[in-house]
Amino acid sequence: MKEKRQSQSDPLEWLSRKLETLKMKDYILKIEKEFNRNELYQAHTWTAIKLIILMWWLTVYSRIVPKHFKNYWYIDLLSSSGANFIQETKDIILGSPLLSYLVPYEQFKHHFFVEINSRRKKTLDRMLKLFNFSNYDTIQGDCNEVIQSIPLHAVDNYFCFIDCEGLDIKWSTLETLLSNRGDILLVFQTTEINRVFRKGKKQGISRALDNFCGDEWWKFCDDVQELLEEYMHNLECRANELRKYHNFVDYIRVKGQRHFYYDVFLICRKGPYTDAWSDLKKTLENLQDKHIRAALEVCKGNQTTLSDFIKKQSKLNNFL
Ligand SMILES: C[S@@+](CC[C@H](N)C(=O)[O-])C[C@H]1O[C@@H](n2cnc3c(N)ncnc32)[C@H](O)[C@@H]1O
Repeated sequence: MKEKRQSQSDPLEWLSRKLETLKMKDYILKIEKEFNRNELYQAHTWTAIKLIILMWWLTVYSRIVPKHFKNYWYIDLLSSSGANFIQETKDIILGSPLLSYLVPYEQFKHHFFVEINSRRKKTLDRMLKLFNFSNYDTIQGDCNEVIQSIPLHAVDNYFCFIDCEGLDIKWSTLETLLSNRGDILLVFQTTEINRVFRKGKKQGISRALDNFCGDEWWKFCDDVQELLEEYMHNLECRANELRKYHNFVDYIRVKGQRHFYYDVFLICRKGPYTDAWSDLKKTLENLQDKHIRAALEVCKGNQTTLSDFIKKQSKLNNFL
């Protein structure tokens, strides 16, 4: 009996059961039937890793936050069309907007999806309708402007996913988010940022980096790793200042093909639940091809266990 209760409260086992009952494959088959491949976001195999990180944190968040707050929203600032087409394998996998409905333990009270591209926004509209999802707004526009119209002050807590392609997100947008209570998962496209950084250093100027960093401090960095560390430090300082509580800021590095890599940042309130993040980080630090293959199988609905990525967390169980 005790064992049963333990497994029900274990978020890792819970997520496995959820993935089993979810039948991700059925959603994928429907998308395959109703949508043209060109309408989907053209992605790569290593995209699956960031979606594993997203699924895991959606689980942890939705186990904790509903116990403390009534009104919590999901915000996807770079939402795309709802599904990804993996170019190397020709697979279709669900994108973050759909996962924000399918994965959480408790449903979000509202979802905001922002997308700059009108075709992708239209595809997302059709997809959300097809699956009968409700309680959402889809907004076409630049998220750095749209953020001002999202009434963050009216919400108790939010989960914001910022899935950048490059330097899409302005520092001012992060400051708006950091002025309110919530968790942020931010995809920091390190390889692409490095390209812009090297060009900017050579030319002594980069509007894109000024906007991304909020200032010209990037000019004093020697390399992109220093820029990333400084960015992280600034996130933590600003979050602590604006929120008046201690924040946890950390990143997980995801290595793709050859020299390509990206980093996924988590910004949230400091607490014992961040052990769940650290454990995932430990596995992904030694990312191998087998992890990318396993992540893709999870996203295709062929594998329902995340034990390749996360080990059991007794501390987290105690907290939950
Ligand atoms: C990497 S994709 C997001 C994929 C999505 N998270 C998923 O899991 O399916 C990034 C999206 O952001 C959009 N985008 C780029 N800059 C933007 C901006 N400033 N505001 C809103 N959307 C933007 C792109 O058109 C693209 O569809």
